[in-house]
Amino acid sequence: MNYSLHLAFVCLSLFTERMCIQGSQFNVEVGRSDKLSLPGFENLTAGYNKFLRPNFGGEPVQIALTLDIASISSISESNMDYTATIYLRQRWMDQRLVFEGNKSFTLDARLVEFLWVPDTYIVESKKSFLHEVTVGNRLIRLFSNGTVLYALRITTTVACNMDLSKYPMDTQTCKLQLESWGYDGNDVEFTWLRGNDSVRGLEHLRLAQYTIERYFTLVTRSQQETGNYTRLVLQFELRRNVLYFILETYVPSTFLVVLSWVSFWISLDSVPARTCIGDNKGSRRSQYY
Ligand SMILES: *[C@@H]1O[C@H](CO)[C@@H](O)[C@H](O)[C@H]1NC(C)=O
Ligand SMILES: *[C@@H]1O[C@H](CO)[C@@H](O)[C@H](O)[C@H]1NC(C)=O
Ligand SMILES: *[C@@H]1O[C@H](CO)[C@@H](O)[C@H](O)[C@H]1NC(C)=O
Ligand SMILES: *[C@@H]1O[C@H](CO)[C@@H](O)[C@H](O)[C@H]1NC(C)=O
Ligand SMILES: *[C@@H]1O[C@H](CO)[C@@H](O)[C@H](O)[C@H]1NC(C)=O
Repeated sequence: MNYSLHLAFVCLSLFTERMCIQGSQFNVEVGRSDKLSLPGFENLTAGYNKFLRPNFGGEPVQIALTLDIASISSISESNMDYTATIYLRQRWMDQRLVFEGNKSFTLDARLVEFLWVPDTYIVESKKSFLHEVTVGNRLIRLFSNGTVLYALRITTTVACNMDLSKYPMDTQTCKLQLESWGYDGNDVEFTWLRGNDSVRGLEHLRLAQYTIERYFTLVTRSQQETGNYTRLVLQFELRRNVLYFILETYVPSTFLVVLSWVSFWISLDSVPARTCIGDNKGSRRSQYY
């Protein structure tokens, strides 16, 4: 126990020291500090190259994902998209980062620069950003068995094809799809860590216009010119709240129409009452008669 704690401490201090050197001597040191700044002393000499994926040239890396949906802030029929804030967590094994003991440690997010991380992207996203306040909202945690946990907080606007033929009594199916940008199925395999339970937060969402009817996760393959990629899909169904629609749209417009009839109910002779509600046409007409 003591031993493993000590080891972790050395690794960390090694990290910070290297970071300082890195800070003062920029590019020159990048190659060397990459090699030296990672835990697992024996394996360090073998060299860690962040540009090479784990098991380079061998088995594909298995990347297990989980998602937390923090919010879905706008669902737009005119743009056919939705905006969501998600916590994206990816786990994979990097044998090069194995170290002794059973401690895990969380690293400063800026050290992501020194590790290999998957090039996951959100298919059909129109724009996305990583939250940067107060620092980049990223997390890196290393486990002694070589597991790396990499978490991000992202806000993204994703296209969603909507069928509005039954509007406003419609149910829309939207998707959130994740795929590797560059590594095809021979290099990177994506999986959901816990099947349908990998996604959390959707049950607790409160949307003004919609109710989330159901959701599930899928793993599909996408065939592209550059290769066959594994694609993770979260599919969810949104049912429009008709009550909201009646209250927000139908009731106010009905009132407006009814209000416009008021002038017809006022007797033709009461000119002052008509001018009062601005029915100029009516009052002019009463002058003719
Ligand atoms: C690892 O954890 C197990 C159980 O959590 C404990 O029994 C064992 O002593 C730990 N090993 C080390 C090297 O700390
Ligand atoms: C170095 O990596 C190998 C696997 O490639 C692993 O079995 C070994 O335990 C690692 N050494 C250390 C000190 O972590
Ligand atoms: C590695 O360790 C973590 C934390 O102890 C554990 O959750 C994970 O299942 C382990 N992975 C493997 C492949 O043993
Ligand atoms: C996830 O849910 C869908 C729909 O409810 C179901 O068809 C599918 O088998 C489930 N998948 C798993 C891995 O449980
Ligand atoms: C992708 O998969 C299809 C069918 O499964 C296969 O015909 C094709 O050759 C594959 N493409 C690549 C680049 O592996």
